[in-house]
Amino acid sequence: MDNVFYRSIRKSYLEVDHGEGVYLYDSEGKKYLDACSGAAVSNLGHAHPKIIEAMTQQAQKVAFSHLSRWTSKPIRQLADLIATLTPGSLNKLYLVSGGSEATEAAIKMARQYFLERDGKTNKYRIISRWKSFHGNTIGSLSMTGDKRRKKYTPLLLNFPKAAPCYCYRCPFNQKPETCGVECAHDLERLLKMEGADSISAFIAEPVGGAACGAIVPHPGYFKVIRQICDQYDILLIDDEVMAGFGRTGSMFAIDDFGVVPDLICAAKGMSAGYSPLGAVIAKDEVFNAFLNGSGVFVHGHTYGGNPLSAAVSLAVVNTLVEDKLVDNSRVVGQYLLTKLKEKLLPFWFAGDVRGIGLMQGVEFVRDKVTKEPFEAGLGIAEKITQILVKQGVIVYPGTGGADGERGDHFLLAPPLILTKDQADEIVDGLVAGFTELEKALGSQR
Ligand SMILES: Cc1ncc(COP(=O)(O)O)c(C=O)c1O
Repeated sequence: MDNVFYRSIRKSYLEVDHGEGVYLYDSEGKKYLDACSGAAVSNLGHAHPKIIEAMTQQAQKVAFSHLSRWTSKPIRQLADLIATLTPGSLNKLYLVSGGSEATEAAIKMARQYFLERDGKTNKYRIISRWKSFHGNTIGSLSMTGDKRRKKYTPLLLNFPKAAPCYCYRCPFNQKPETCGVECAHDLERLLKMEGADSISAFIAEPVGGAACGAIVPHPGYFKVIRQICDQYDILLIDDEVMAGFGRTGSMFAIDDFGVVPDLICAAKGMSAGYSPLGAVIAKDEVFNAFLNGSGVFVHGHTYGGNPLSAAVSLAVVNTLVEDKLVDNSRVVGQYLLTKLKEKLLPFWFAGDVRGIGLMQGVEFVRDKVTKEPFEAGLGIAEKITQILVKQGVIVYPGTGGADGERGDHFLLAPPLILTKDQADEIVDGLVAGFTELEKALGSQR
């Protein structure tokens, strides 16, 4: 045993040696298709020459300067570039170092916005949803609605949770074709129950990720949410940490749902794993409340906005645009999803195959008609992941999506440079893996 305190101490880990494009290689030379980009991070694949070049150039100039004193060309250029890509007046870039830092910062920004705007001292709580993931720090975990929070509940903030928009297991027993988006109206119910005067914002992932495996919302969901947020004077925080920067086939996933949020949280694909980075992108109205008020957002982290990460992100976002990778995500994503449905749904335990762009999920069930999940103790998500590792395909497993304990899924989020041939490779690997799982499950049916 080495001296690293791993997340799962008894699990054995692959040792990475190097990466190239969509592939990772272990120290024995075995090749793996990184079909989840780690955790939806490596959107440009590994060892991308343009990013290595940008990193090297910036490191030779200056890697670190602290935002309390210095600005830099990379952060200003990055902010200008991102302002051209975001919807509406989401123009102001507040830099941090990762996704949890971004959602944490958004909690404080929303609270301080109402203080600056009209001195409201009580408007600080955040409504989020069940079956969501917003990070692992105490504030972000307080918003998170999945089993990751359970061991830590005594430490968490009193933030209410609305129903998820999860059509496969609709909490209101409706069908998406005929429903009245009851899940969106649940926000209004909560606002009335809790009192909107105490709520500063509603936060949601535009496409559900780590907690549930690529849940795409009902097409009308976010329009109702936007209208309720406006009616009750609360901010809409769009957590695009996983879905943003092209993952879903649009620059921001929310672009597909016809609404403009007030704050966007971003990380992961924004620097594509080459250097840690995250951000809150604020609309002008939020920024102006600070500008016309105290002029200071009382927040900050040491590495936020360091020139090296900003130069990396600038090169990443420029590459996304120049190489039309958002389009590639949509086109190859649609191709992959069609194949996955065709090849995987015939397996008796493949309950749902879903997604948008190159963000896709497979959910496992014991019974397709009742959608009954497997017992948690069987560890199906981890089992299939281990089988797929042998096949040379890496996926991102998750559990607890059905009822907080039971429910198995995995997420596919391959690099956005994926070709159709590589998509076929993923499908072939999954079919081989599912065939092996079918044999292993034989008597469990
Ligand atoms: C939607 C969302 N928000 C926040 C986070 C937390 O990001 P990080 O792990 O960079 O802290 C994640 C990570 O998976 C995420 O998917």
